[in-house]
Amino acid sequence: MAHSVASAEVEAMMADLALSAHRAPEAYLAAARATLSRILSRPDLLDPARLVGQGEGLSRNLLFGTEAISVWAMVWAPGAVTPVHDHHCSCCFGLLRGTLRETWYRPISETHAVATLDVLRQPGFVACMMPSGPNLHRIANDGSEAAVSIHVYGYDHRAQESSIHRTYAIAAG
Ligand SMILES: [Fe+2]
Repeated sequence: MAHSVASAEVEAMMADLALSAHRAPEAYLAAARATLSRILSRPDLLDPARLVGQGEGLSRNLLFGTEAISVWAMVWAPGAVTPVHDHHCSCCFGLLRGTLRETWYRPISETHAVATLDVLRQPGFVACMMPSGPNLHRIANDGSEAAVSIHVYGYDHRAQESSIHRTYAIAAG
């Protein structure tokens, strides 16, 4: 039984995507990318109340969840930042509003990583990857406005706390 607080149209899209989570990785990632792009082009389908943060930092609002995927609206207050982390599951996200700085890292040990790429993401940006990508990154809102992103992770929100596999300290490059 899926958990959903999305509109019927978005729920149908996400239910289709949950089914495709059982397909080959490339097929699933393509489906997740298409689903996120559709949602970003139709933000009116999302409940505005789910796109509001609760105070400082990063707020996670669950939109939909099954045993295969969980979909979240993440609201980034100015100054919100994740630790450097990798994922135990697939990680897809699209930026709905605001800007986010995504910094990629290369692990140099099980505890430390060095930055390799730093990009400012704009609304409409979509990224989808498997944990073997590798997908080691940090996301920060260093702007002055709140940012909202939609995330699709390949994990059951009832079984695991988050998509994060491991966090890393930043080593000097
Ligand atoms: Fe992540």
